Amino acid sequence: MCEANYSEVSEFVFLGLSTFRPMQHFLLTFSTVFYITIVLGNLLVVYTVTFDPRLHSPMYFLLANLSFIDLCLSTLTVPKMISDLYSGQNTISFQGCVIQIFVLHVLGGSEMMLLTAMALDHYVAICKPLHYLTVMSPRMCIWLLVGAWLIGLTHSVTQLAFVVHLHFCVLNKIDSFYCDLPQFIKLACTDTYKLKFMVTANSGFISMGTFFLLIFSYIFILATVWKQSSGGLSKAFSTLSAHITVVILFFGPCIFVYVWPFPTVTVDKFLAILDFMITPILNPVIYTLRNKDMKMAMRRLNSQLLSW
Ligand SMILES: *[C@@H]1O[C@H](CO)[C@@H](O)[C@H](O)[C@H]1NC(C)=O
Repeated sequence: MCEANYSEVSEFVFLGLSTFRPMQHFLLTFSTVFYITIVLGNLLVVYTVTFDPRLHSPMYFLLANLSFIDLCLSTLTVPKMISDLYSGQNTISFQGCVIQIFVLHVLGGSEMMLLTAMALDHYVAICKPLHYLTVMSPRMCIWLLVGAWLIGLTHSVTQLAFVVHLHFCVLNKIDSFYCDLPQFIKLACTDTYKLKFMVTANSGFISMGTFFLLIFSYIFILATVWKQSSGGLSKAFSTLSAHITVVILFFGPCIFVYVWPFPTVTVDKFLAILDFMITPILNPVIYTLRNKDMKMAMRRLNSQLLSW
C-alpha cells in the first residue's frame, strides 16, 4: 500500500498548540507581542555592536552573532504560527516542511556551538586573563564563527540525508506548530525504528554533550574565581548566572524533545516555545538592561542619531 507513491502526501497539517478558540486568541496576542520584541531587541543588539567601535571585542561580536541566529530561529517558526492562528489555515507543503527542518537544525547546531564559543571566551577572560588578547584574537573569532556554522550545517545535512527518502502515504497531521524530525518521522509509513535511533543519537548527542560541557565549564570557571578570592565569586556569579539560565532554557527543551524516550508530544510543543520565543528575548534583555557598556553604547549611538 505504501510503496505505491512517494509523494502521495504533498502537504502537512499542523494541529497547533490548541484548538480551543479563546486559547488561540491568547496565543495570537502573546506570540505577536513576543515576536515584535524579539525582532526589535535583537536588531538593537546587532546594530549597537556593529556601529559602536568600543564594542568591537570578541565577546560583543559573539553576542551580536548569537542575536542574529536567535532572530532567524524565531523567524523560522513564529510568523508561520502567527499566520496560522490568524487565518486558521494550518498547512505546510512537503518541501516547506523539509526546508524548515533543515534550517532549524543548521541554526540550532550553530547556536549551540556559539554558546560554547561564548563560554570559552568567559573562561579565557576569567581564568587566563593575561593571555586573553592572544587567545581571543580577531582571527580566532572568525574561526569560531566559521566552525559554528560548519558544524551546524554538517549536523543538519547528515540528519536530513537519512529522512528525505521516507515514504508518506496517509497520515499528514503534525501535532505541533512547526516541523521537526521526531514528528516528521512518526508520519512515515515505512519502519522508522532505526531512524528514530539515529535522530536521538545525532541531535540528542549534540545537545546533551554540549549542555554538559557548558555546565561543567561554568562550574570550573566559578571554582577558579572562588579559589582566587571568595569576594569575586558573587560578582562572577551574577554575570555568569544569566548565561547559565540561557543555557538551561535553550538546551532543556532540545534534550527533552530528542532524548526523552516516551512520546509526549503535548509537552514537546509547549517546551518548544522556550526555544523560539523565550530564549531569543533573554539575550537582548540580559545584555541591554544589565550591561553597562551596552547601555552606554546605546546612549552614544542615540545622541549621534539625534545630532544628525
Ligand atoms: C559576527 O562576528 C564577526 C566577527 O567575529 C563580526 O565581524 C560580525 O559583524 C558579527 N555578525 C553580526 C551579525 O554582528
